[in-house]
Amino acid sequence: MPDTTPTEQQSTPSSTAFVFARSFTVLIAALAVALAFFTPIRSSLSSLLAKPALRSMSTAASPAMKITTRPWSARGHHDYDWLYTFHTFAFGSYDDPHHESWGPLRVINEDRVKAGTGFGTHSHSEFLIFSYIVNGTLEHKDSMGNLENLKRGEVQFTSAGTGIRHSEYNRNRDAEVHFLQIWAKPNKRGLAPHYETKKFTDEQKTDNLVRIMESTDRLGDRKGADAPIGLQADLSMEASILSPGKKVVHEVVAAGQRKLFLQLIMNGRAQPKEGGAKIKVGDTVLGEGDGAYVDGVAGPGKIEVESVGDKPAEFLLFDMGP
Ligand SMILES: *[C@@H]1O[C@H](CO)[C@@H](O)[C@H](O)[C@H]1NC(C)=O
Repeated sequence: MPDTTPTEQQSTPSSTAFVFARSFTVLIAALAVALAFFTPIRSSLSSLLAKPALRSMSTAASPAMKITTRPWSARGHHDYDWLYTFHTFAFGSYDDPHHESWGPLRVINEDRVKAGTGFGTHSHSEFLIFSYIVNGTLEHKDSMGNLENLKRGEVQFTSAGTGIRHSEYNRNRDAEVHFLQIWAKPNKRGLAPHYETKKFTDEQKTDNLVRIMESTDRLGDRKGADAPIGLQADLSMEASILSPGKKVVHEVVAAGQRKLFLQLIMNGRAQPKEGGAKIKVGDTVLGEGDGAYVDGVAGPGKIEVESVGDKPAEFLLFDMGP
């Protein structure tokens, strides 16, 4: 019937539109339900799947683990007489596009400052700065009114935030001070400056991994002498003094892909040609002053570190987000 055709032709698109509108409403409702339930379903599914994997996993890390060593003598190095320093990452006049940072980690300097000298007053902003004292005494003085003499085991943390000025000085008459200066990038800009010092003893670190720095998100309400120092970055740092033949196991601190970094502290001004402290991670052996980038590690998972030298190995282990 030719005269009804236009009507049908008219009604067909309009009913299609109606059906489309109805299915669109149903689709939106289904999407809302899916959004409300999908995340918990997904996370409980993944934790169900992950737990047996963690339990059955050997202490060795995942097969995807990739270790790239940062040999002690390949680091940036200066001997300015008053300061004998190694830079793991680009720093000051040491420029190196291949070693600029790793995750939020931006600086690891291994410094020895001669008696009666030091870093005069200078300013910092938008960096998380921590000093790990290995030997000797470092005087720290800043624009927030802090004045402290830092000794072995102490970790001084300054979140520079909107800006601070400080100096680091060796007031001793004869002994040098040996410390690691570490900087990380905060995940928030414009933080109020913060200062905090804590001590972690050799006893705590011996044949153990002690959490020294922890992201404030993972730290939660933990406070007190045993709690790590909180910082605004997805970075955890542990320290250990591992006796020859001993092992420690680090449990990756968060789910998903992580970046790890290991730094073995030096006993002398150079790595000994034979012997000394050594650690083994996967198939890689690190000597005094060596570092290692560890990639391809995901949480939940574990990584084992073994002391394979003839001296206790004092090292730092960083576990970071991308
Ligand atoms: C610590 O420093 C003092 C003074 O410089 C030095 O005599 C001693 O050997 C150092 N100890 C270590 C473990 O480096």
